[in-house]
Amino acid sequence: MDATPAKEENPVWAETQEALLSLGYRANQLTSIKKELEPQTELTVQQMIPTSPFVCWQNRRKEGNGLEERTLDANVQDADSFESTLRPASLDAYIGQNELKENLRVFIHAAKARSEALDHVLLYGPPGLGKTTLAYILANEMNGNLKTASGPSIEKSGDLAAILSTLEAGDVLFIDEIHRLPKQVEEVLYPAMEDYCLDIVVGKDSATTHSIRLDLPPFTLVGATTRAGDLSAPLRDRFGIVSQLEYYGLEDLEKIVARTGRVMQTEIEEDAVREVALRSRGTPRIANRLFRRVRDFAQVYNEGVISLDVAKDALDRLKVDELGLDSVDHKYLKGIIERFKGGPVGLEALASSIGEEASTIEDVYEPYLLQIGFINRTPRGRLATAKAYEHLHIAYQQDLFE
Ligand code: ADE
Repeated sequence: MDATPAKEENPVWAETQEALLSLGYRANQLTSIKKELEPQTELTVQQMIPTSPFVCWQNRRKEGNGLEERTLDANVQDADSFESTLRPASLDAYIGQNELKENLRVFIHAAKARSEALDHVLLYGPPGLGKTTLAYILANEMNGNLKTASGPSIEKSGDLAAILSTLEAGDVLFIDEIHRLPKQVEEVLYPAMEDYCLDIVVGKDSATTHSIRLDLPPFTLVGATTRAGDLSAPLRDRFGIVSQLEYYGLEDLEKIVARTGRVMQTEIEEDAVREVALRSRGTPRIANRLFRRVRDFAQVYNEGVISLDVAKDALDRLKVDELGLDSVDHKYLKGIIERFKGGPVGLEALASSIGEEASTIEDVYEPYLLQIGFINRTPRGRLATAKAYEHLHIAYQQDLFE
């Protein structure tokens, strides 16, 4: 008897199988896909492939090791339902980022008039400034659905194919931390962005190699990153709209805090609105987080009313100072000043001396300290400025040998 495995008899499945392997699926995953798809004898390769990753994705969901949780990251909303309750649904309700907002209004209007999908959008800037919120708004304004995922959770091109194959015309796919997409996934994304198609290369040798093209509906990719510089040039170039989100001014933050008070049906006095806004380091997510904590103090000590005294007391107890700097900012600045004589000090050395991740410091803490002029980044490392010394009440001594 012939001991070699039976050659695949169904040519459609054989081709599909090769395509799935090339998308990064493992042989053992194909068995379950085959079971579900093979009875559907009428399917073509083009129909089978997009269905296949989806089947696989569903199977993994059933098994409870959740590609969905990692990739179709709608759970981001559940994890922070407070944040999503506050999320404005339209550009009109979105406060701040005025230039970007007005430009987006034009692009949306024009795309809708042409019955086209909005061009792909890249949003970059520090965390908490509203990149995800804008993606929600874009999907809403374009009357599409929003699918969300994050760069590191899309491990192989098959994961991306699975997500792309669930899109409908006009949908928005939001990929957070897009600079962390694996290289081979990024390459699948290029034709998807440019021509709304997936090119899957199949065949083991040069004689049999060919590619299968799958059409995708017109969709909009919204990419978000805290590090635009880490994005590869080919990926960056494929975004038609590239925009930086700026820290919010006091007036806009006040509007956001007051709005949060209304949405959460919490009475907050005008000077308390200002106090919370002042200590939010230009960041709506922080403003809303502080609001939530201040509301707790108001509930326990002031019958639910957020007065200036309650706000100040709560924020002091939370160790958020009058510029919005928290204990990590203080540890960071004191680290430079006290352990490294004000700098310059390299990021890694500083991070390890204060026990924080270098990437968190770089992405989360430093951008605001740079913005308010408390640190400088020089080729030789980080330097604390006179302003930082003054804020920490430490005498500033210029290094004569600098
Ligand atoms: N909540 C958080 N960010 C907001 C913004 N930019 N506009 C309105 N509400 C918000």
